[in-house]
Amino acid sequence: MNQDNVVIFDTTLRDGEQALRASLSKREKLQIAHAIAKLGVDVMEVGFPVSSPGDFDAVKSIAEQVKGPIICGLARAMEKDIIACGEALAPAEKRRIHTFIATSPIHLEHKLQKTLEQATDMAVKAIKLAKTYTDDVEFSCEDAGRTPVADLAYVIERAIDAGATTINIPDTVGYTEPTEFAEIIAGIKQQVPNIDKAIISVHCHNDLGLAVANSIAAVQAGARQIECTVNGIGERAGNCALEEVAMIMQTRKERFGVTTNIKSEEIFRTSKLVSQLCNMPVQQNKAIVGANAFAHSSGIHQDGILKAQNTYEIMKPEHIGMQSNELNLTSRSGRHVIQHRMTEMGYSDKDYNLNDIYDAFLLLADKKGQVHDYDLEAIVFNQQLEEES
Ligand code: KIV
Ligand code: ZN
Repeated sequence: MNQDNVVIFDTTLRDGEQALRASLSKREKLQIAHAIAKLGVDVMEVGFPVSSPGDFDAVKSIAEQVKGPIICGLARAMEKDIIACGEALAPAEKRRIHTFIATSPIHLEHKLQKTLEQATDMAVKAIKLAKTYTDDVEFSCEDAGRTPVADLAYVIERAIDAGATTINIPDTVGYTEPTEFAEIIAGIKQQVPNIDKAIISVHCHNDLGLAVANSIAAVQAGARQIECTVNGIGERAGNCALEEVAMIMQTRKERFGVTTNIKSEEIFRTSKLVSQLCNMPVQQNKAIVGANAFAHSSGIHQDGILKAQNTYEIMKPEHIGMQSNELNLTSRSGRHVIQHRMTEMGYSDKDYNLNDIYDAFLLLADKKGQVHDYDLEAIVFNQQLEEES
């Protein structure tokens, strides 16, 4: 693998879908899978085949029909899960089995009632079985964020010896903060002797709003795969948002020195599709894809944007496939944006008196909130009538 490339592993149709109030139909999953493939992700995790016949069928159909990315399915470290996953993925050109077991003291004691050694034995067995279906096997230490690094090192070394080619470090409950999570990744790199045989992946949940920050900190510490979902949908507060990590690495490339294969111009369209089909509205001020992400309201900002776009925009809307930014006409707007809008509407400077128009605009904006083009037309018309009388 090119060390400067970060693998984007999309789990919208697995971790994202499992958090929806109502499951997606197979047709909807296929529609999303095609859009995500077009977005340029390297790997897409599309389901948990053992969980239901419907999920098995959807994973199989995606494996048959969607070309480009590696198609991945999830399996607990259990024989029946690995078999179901291997069978569902069989038609894929490129396939990955992702198997996992919990490693944190809390999960081992209360959920699994197993020792770390017992859980590791199960993982090793599962990885070896998965290898009979594909060379590409990913192993996750569930709740790694709350697992001591020495315990992670023990499990990971054995998982790599068993054949895992990607080692995923999930912050399953979104508990860590960026410096701490980066230390976990650095600790793994230091303490696992065979770590160079695998790619380190991260999978961060957003319970404290840190999923993106933790994923980026992990990349800085040496991780080279990020697991994420479109619009950050997922369990509880969601997963790391794909569009945010992709645009961070694109916009700040000089800082991180890494690239992804994401075609950023597909981001906006994919975000809208996922939001609509999953019935999960995108928060208005969400980074990158929110309705306000490229909207400017204050007069000072609008004036700056009209002089040079990069005064108040660090990315262009076209970079994410949005047609243009938006300059809202409100009582915070200044004369410059009104003149700009009048020109866009086909008026020349001689057709109106800017100061008069602006005074009338402000009175209306204070009453109405947002002023539209047809309001400006009415203001000009009234002015012309007054001049004639
Ligand atoms: O959050 C998590 O730990 C997971 C694993 C199955 C990778 O989703
Ligand atoms: Zn998860």
